[in-house]
Amino acid sequence: MSDAVIEKVDNDGVVRLTINRPKALNALNSEVLSALETHLVELEAHPSLRAVLITGAGEKSFVAGADITEMRDKTPEEARAFASQALRTIKRLETLPVPVVALVNGFCLGGGCELALACDWAVASDNAIFGQPEVLLGVIPGFGGTQRLPRRVGPAMSIDLVTTGRKIDAQEALRIGLVNRVMPQAELENYVEELTKQLKGNGPQSVRGAKQAVHDGMDQDLDSALALETSLFAFCFAGQEQKEGMSAFVEKRKPNF
Ligand code: HXC
Repeated sequence: MSDAVIEKVDNDGVVRLTINRPKALNALNSEVLSALETHLVELEAHPSLRAVLITGAGEKSFVAGADITEMRDKTPEEARAFASQALRTIKRLETLPVPVVALVNGFCLGGGCELALACDWAVASDNAIFGQPEVLLGVIPGFGGTQRLPRRVGPAMSIDLVTTGRKIDAQEALRIGLVNRVMPQAELENYVEELTKQLKGNGPQSVRGAKQAVHDGMDQDLDSALALETSLFAFCFAGQEQKEGMSAFVEKRKPNF
C-alpha cells in the first residue's frame, strides 16, 4: 500500500479504490474527500470502466465516519462546506455509470455508512459493524444518511438508527436490507472477484442501462419511471449487444460481448 490517502488499482476496467488511513480507521477528512473526488472525476471519463470497488485499508475498518478531530472546531459555515464537499463526492460515486460495490471490512459508521449507502452493492464481512452514531456526538448525519438510509431500509428503522445511534452487526444489517451479502472476512475478496467476473461477463451497455433505469427511475413517479425504462429498453436494440445476446441464445452458444 502506498502513502496515498486513496489507493487506486485498475484491473482491466474494474477499478478498486482503497481509503488508506488505517491508523484513524479510515475516517474521512477533507484530504481524503478531495482525493476521492479527483479519482471519481477521472473515472467518469474512463473509456472502458466496468465496475468500481471501494473499501478501507486494513481488516478492522471500512470507514469509521467523518473525521471527528477535523470537525470538532468547525463553525456552522465550515461544517456546511465540509458536508457539501462530502455530499458532492458521494453523489459522484453514486452516479458513476457502472455498478459500485462497497467491500465493508469492519467498522462502517457515520459517514462510512453514508458512503456505503451510495453504493449499488454492499458486501460485508461477518465482523462488520454499522451505525449512524452522530447523535452521540451532538450532531446528525450530514453525508446523506437521513435521506439514503430510509430509501434503503425504510423510515421506521432509519429513525431507530439515527435517533439512538446504536450499532448493529452484519447479520442485522443484512436482515434490514442495508447490505446485500455477509460472509466470513477470509471469503470477502473471493466473493467480490466472482461478482465482478459475473458483471464483466454481461453486456457493458446493458449493465449501465439497467443501473441507470433503477437509479433515475427511483427519483420519478411510477409512470415517468416506466416511460424511462421503455426508452432505455428500446435503446438497447440500437446497439450490438442485443444482437449478439439474442443471437447467442438462438444459436445455443455463449454471447461474446
Ligand atoms: C477521527 C477516528 C475516528 C473518526 C476512529 N478514529 N474513528 N478519528 N474520526 N471518526 C481514530 C481514533 O481516535 C484512534 O486514534 C484510532 O482511530 C483507533 O480508534 P479507537 O477508538 O482506538 O479504536 P477502537 O477502540 O477499536 O474503537 C473503534 C470505534 C471508535 C468504535 C470505531 O473509534 C469510534 O467510536 N469511532 C468514532 C465513530 C463515529 O462516531 N463515527 C461517526 C463520526 S460523525 P488514536 O490517534 O487515538 O489512535 C460522522 C458525521 C458525518 O461521520 C457527517 C458530517 C458532516
